[in-house]
Amino acid sequence: MQFSFTAEQEMIRQAARDFAQTELLPGVIERDETQTFPPELVRRMGELGFMGLMVSPEYGGGGMDTISYVLLMEELSKVDASASVIVSVQNSLVNWGIETFGTEEQKQKYLPKLARGEIVGAFCLSEPEAGSDATQQRTTAVRRGDHYILNGTKNWITNAGRAGLYLVIAQTDHSLGSRGISAFIVEREWDGVIVGKKEDKLGIRGSDTHTMIFNDVRVPVENRIGEEGFGFKFAMKTLDGGRIGIAAQALGIASGAFELALRYSTQRKAFGVPIAKHQAIAAKLARMGTEVEAARLMCLRAAEAKDRQQPYGFLASMAKLFASRTAMWVTTEAVQIHGGYGYVKEYHVERLFRDAKITEIYEGTSEVQRIVLSRSLARAEKALLTA
Ligand code: CAA
Repeated sequence: MQFSFTAEQEMIRQAARDFAQTELLPGVIERDETQTFPPELVRRMGELGFMGLMVSPEYGGGGMDTISYVLLMEELSKVDASASVIVSVQNSLVNWGIETFGTEEQKQKYLPKLARGEIVGAFCLSEPEAGSDATQQRTTAVRRGDHYILNGTKNWITNAGRAGLYLVIAQTDHSLGSRGISAFIVEREWDGVIVGKKEDKLGIRGSDTHTMIFNDVRVPVENRIGEEGFGFKFAMKTLDGGRIGIAAQALGIASGAFELALRYSTQRKAFGVPIAKHQAIAAKLARMGTEVEAARLMCLRAAEAKDRQQPYGFLASMAKLFASRTAMWVTTEAVQIHGGYGYVKEYHVERLFRDAKITEIYEGTSEVQRIVLSRSLARAEKALLTA
């Protein structure tokens, strides 16, 4: 594993840091309050290359690696986790899913617009009765000659209100269980694509989360991704990479809160000295810094494995499990260190504390990560025993 970054990786980190400080920070409290994220900021993230960071240049993207993506996600998330989830869903679920498994026509048609940020994508897997148990899809896609008729409801869909394109997972043959699920690219303008209720959330309030309803939507066969029946594996493989993005988001939330707590504790005095000099606070800061660094290494380790085309699903799950727990713990301690100031919106740790929670829930809850990990470990043990 490398312990230094290339010039290109440093460049993206600096660009993300500058953008976060100069363009995201000024309005972040207001966006959280009003639950909005202006299209101009999405457009800016497109111009800066963030929306198509890992898409190959052939399709208009930056062609950068997963390590760069982790660096980008950390810097954006330190300031605004609503911005970073837009970037994360776009890059690791939508762009990667289409580039890795789509047809040449699908890539030519959709990737350049996604990579430039001209359209935003959404990933529609979760349903009212299929969250963690993702095989229980009720959404159906029934083949009628050269198209499918898509019907169903999807819940908690990030980017839904602003999206121009949806990756939708649906049952095509109920009798085959998870092998009877398929994936489709659905365009916003098609008849029957309905953006439903907007969620009023605890955290990442600037990001746009809705229910999506698909009502007799006519989807051309050429918009299916992969073979019929490949949809569940498509979703799982795509989420393997997505979990690196969310782990890096959790890392950013944690490191942002840690930096704020460190700064505050060297400035704020109690009993005649900066509070950082009090042993109780100093010990907290030492542990916070250690956990943030451990989370960072785990994110980079998973990213490096993906870049080297080595197995990375279990490393992504480990990174997400650890980084999201770190985000919860570090933000809680950061609020505690800020005392009364930490409990009000003006001091950013209050928002980071609320933003942290979702990282233990979306793209697979911590409980699901433990299922994934325990199965991987069981497989590894079996391989060892039979070697
Ligand atoms: N890669 C490739 N194939 C995989 C896979 C992976 N990572 N994981 C499972 N599969 C395959 C299995 O090999 C199996 O294939 P076969 O039929 O050929 O044997 C098939 O998929 C079914 O797998 P399981 O038997 O393991 O399925 P399961 O019902 O036990 O569920 C689970 C496994 C890990 C719990 C899975 O359902 C899961 O990950 N659930 C969580 C879903 C999730 O993360 N949702 C997030 C929503 S998206 C989101 O949040 C985005 C956003 O807006 C921010």
